[in-house]
Amino acid sequence: MTSEKKRVFSGIQPTGTFTIGNYIGAVRNWPKLQDDYDCLYSVVDLHAITVRQNPADLRRRTRETAALLLACGVDPEKSILFVQSHVPAHTQLSWVLGCFCPFGDLTRMHQFKEKSAKHPEDINGGLLTYPILMAADILLYNADLVPIGNDQKQHLELARNIAQRFNGVYSETFVVPDGYIPKTGARVMSLQEPEKKMSKSDTNANAVVRVLDDPDSIVRKFKRAVTDSDGCVRASADKPGVTNLMSIYSAFTDKSFEEIEREFDGVGYGAFKEAVAQSVVDGLRPIQTEYARILADKKYLDGVLKTGAERADRIAQRILSKVYRKVGFVQL
Ligand code: TYM
Repeated sequence: MTSEKKRVFSGIQPTGTFTIGNYIGAVRNWPKLQDDYDCLYSVVDLHAITVRQNPADLRRRTRETAALLLACGVDPEKSILFVQSHVPAHTQLSWVLGCFCPFGDLTRMHQFKEKSAKHPEDINGGLLTYPILMAADILLYNADLVPIGNDQKQHLELARNIAQRFNGVYSETFVVPDGYIPKTGARVMSLQEPEKKMSKSDTNANAVVRVLDDPDSIVRKFKRAVTDSDGCVRASADKPGVTNLMSIYSAFTDKSFEEIEREFDGVGYGAFKEAVAQSVVDGLRPIQTEYARILADKKYLDGVLKTGAERADRIAQRILSKVYRKVGFVQL
């Protein structure tokens, strides 16, 4: 990695095949940044265990997620791709940063409130301290830019606050990172409940389109997508279903909302939904082909992750050791 380029960090949880929400909101932008920035992308398995995971599934999904990121265009010759638990400095820095984060800031996080409500039987410490680990992920590499969807904005703000607080106490140590959030598609909504975010962990299969869904399922899910009764393809706050489909179509075709409204003027929802589904099928096809090829080559995949972890670890050690020195830990 050359030192003149600015740095990018982002991560994704291996909690299931990712959705077109993850793809449009975040992952699609990762390869685009590879030429102009030094990029690190991580499969964040430590974050995933804040909700109980079956160990065999977690292991499988971690590799699958890495393969899918490669299929989406993350290039290991240009970027560092690694698994979070392979670089111990993430948890080490997380402890230090936790001592610079007021308890009240953690209990205010939307995601903590949502996940606590969803899993009342298991409101564990990891769920609360989750954003501190995320701050460690980002600050450990002095990332300038963090490509994420809208739902991670609050966590990024917390990371910025922690960085500023630490810098204020110990002098300039961390870069205060900025978000890279797309104008359209930063919050792709559920196809069944368009006032709710599309989520990897949704149990209603019709609500979610996954990047590896086959063409027939994609067409079927869009056909069943909830819209409204006025039959007019127009973006507006009181038409969340249609607006969501327009965002998805816009992301896969690069057409503006005005162009889409003109294209489907007087046409009705049937043809519109078919066109949206087709654009998604066409956009995902090359990713699906590439994914099957990469996943079949376990040796290659594990090699990429091993090299990625070694390279990430080297960068992480430098910053961790600076932090340890600043807070007053004895170094031998
Ligand atoms: P995760 O795994 O939930 O999601 C990965 C990325 O996808 C974005 N995203 C969406 N974008 C648009 N519409 C949606 N419906 C949608 N759902 C998810 C997320 O905003 C995210 O960018 N905490 C993070 C993972 C993480 C991370 C980090 C991210 C851990 N450490 C450091 C950036 C930097 C998460 O759970 O993402």
